[in-house]
Amino acid sequence: MRESGLPQVARRRSAGYSLAYPDQVTPASLSDDDAAARARAWRDAAHAAVCDVLEPWSHGTVVRATSRPSYWAFNVVRVEEDPAMSVEELADFADQALAGLEHRCIDFDLVGAAEPLRAGFEAKGWKAERLVWMRHEAPLPPGPEIVVEEVPYDAVDNLRVAWGLEDFPGLDQGDYPAHAREISLGRGAQVLAVREDRAPVAFAQLERYGGAAEITHVYVHPEYRGAGRGTAMTRAAVEAAGDVRDLWITADDEDRPKELYARLGFRPAWVTMEFLRPP
Ligand SMILES: CC(C)(COP(=O)(O)OP(=O)(O)OC[C@H]1O[C@@H](n2cnc3c(N)ncnc32)[C@H](O)[C@@H]1OP(=O)(O)O)[C@@H](O)C(=O)NCCC(=O)NCCS
Repeated sequence: MRESGLPQVARRRSAGYSLAYPDQVTPASLSDDDAAARARAWRDAAHAAVCDVLEPWSHGTVVRATSRPSYWAFNVVRVEEDPAMSVEELADFADQALAGLEHRCIDFDLVGAAEPLRAGFEAKGWKAERLVWMRHEAPLPPGPEIVVEEVPYDAVDNLRVAWGLEDFPGLDQGDYPAHAREISLGRGAQVLAVREDRAPVAFAQLERYGGAAEITHVYVHPEYRGAGRGTAMTRAAVEAAGDVRDLWITADDEDRPKELYARLGFRPAWVTMEFLRPP
């Protein structure tokens, strides 16, 4: 029994992109439109692979992974065009579409349509994040002499917990870590780490799907930042990805890590906006 109360309809192909991740070989550098379309197809392919509900609504798609309710990224209202709706109308729709879940999440594919709503969502206590999808297009420059090694997924559990607490202090993550583990390992997750006194203090994670890949995590423990570990691990993840058609990484468009990624050859492809009301 689905909880959203929305009609069950066939998955829709929206104009300009496909649910299947494109498998043709592409040049290292794409036109802006092509790069954005491929980033979007990558995001959609991840949703299609994990979510059991993909229901069109007037301005996009509601996606749900009903057995993984605490995994916010797979339980969202996607807004794929300018909805011309108020903050209240969108929040009401999210209440209906994500009924039964503790969080609310609305992802705008068009940042220009989202920006005018940002202040209104923030006034209601929602978090807003401009997210930039970056594609690896330029060669890696020489990097720091820091040893990066591949480790088992569970070897960096302490760092995963620390990152969660840094972003959402006091939040009980519930089943999220177990669901994230299962999904990531299903996508062939490779974990790369830097150690100090044998204990990992930084990690990066690479996941693959359909001939492309994404660096899904880059985290350095706060006490060890600013000394090249983030750079060394991101370089190692790019090298580990090898000759993939597309290599993606996402970053907060208003924060510093995107500069680190740009220095390593990642170029902006698509900017989205996420409105999130955590539990
Ligand atoms: C982003 C992060 C991985 C960088 O690791 P690091 O070991 O400090 O990085 P390096 O020393 O190799 O490179 C320094 C660059 O990283 C970024 N950086 C460094 N310290 C940072 C900090 N406290 N916050 C955000 N970015 C930082 C900047 O781009 C910096 O370059 P700049 O000083 O010219 O702005 C680390 O700050 C971190 O774990 N932040 C929290 C988690 C996070 O935001 N991850 C990235 C998700 S997109």
